[in-house]
Amino acid sequence: MVTLEPLGKDLFVVDGPVVRDMGVRFNTRMTVARLRDGSVWIASPVQVSFAALAEIIALGPVRYLVSPTPRHFWRLNAWHRLFPEAQLFSSPITPITLKKGDLPLAGILGEPDGGLWAPDLEQVQLRGIRWLNEVVFFHTPSRALLVEDVIQIHERQPGHHLRNALVAGGGVAAPWGGVGRDIRLTFRDKAAARESIEQILQWDFDKLVVAHGPVVTGNARETVERAFAWLDRRSGGR
Ligand SMILES: [Fe+2]
Repeated sequence: MVTLEPLGKDLFVVDGPVVRDMGVRFNTRMTVARLRDGSVWIASPVQVSFAALAEIIALGPVRYLVSPTPRHFWRLNAWHRLFPEAQLFSSPITPITLKKGDLPLAGILGEPDGGLWAPDLEQVQLRGIRWLNEVVFFHTPSRALLVEDVIQIHERQPGHHLRNALVAGGGVAAPWGGVGRDIRLTFRDKAAARESIEQILQWDFDKLVVAHGPVVTGNARETVERAFAWLDRRSGGR
């Protein structure tokens, strides 16, 4: 049975069901942080077992439900019904935001007052990218970087040769994964994107949580640096 997997101080992940997006199968993962005021912050909630739900409720009151990427907005619906008093936040709404119905958002991530959860969580909005305006978080107590869609790590699936070839050609194959070639094409201002990445790499993270792929507990910094090497970051830059 899938329950909460602790990743460090006050941070947990829970794996959800496999979903399809644009015809591709994705594994799913949500991230749960217990903030220092005792409340619970959840990014990209997924369908979970009653056991996992009970564990989350035991952590503290669920106060924040967050979609850091336009492609996970729809996932807020079910959890808004479970926790109607929780505040909802989304990355900037774009033409690729996967919405279902109208949800009462408390705010858009990346606005000037976005540091709502500091010092537990810091955030940077990826800039220079068209539509996939993801907001990347750094959970300081666990030193984990939280990324949703922009970096993906797809493991080989025995017998699925075409799928494996597409994954490898797309630049997102395990062990390093990366930014998919289709997503790279949507970066229209590389200088702005580089600036965002430099901000992210200034955080002292040693773990990487991606929504689609295994959690990275070793070489996390190298994984992120490799993922964005195609942006021609300054050599020697942090
Ligand atoms: Fe996703």
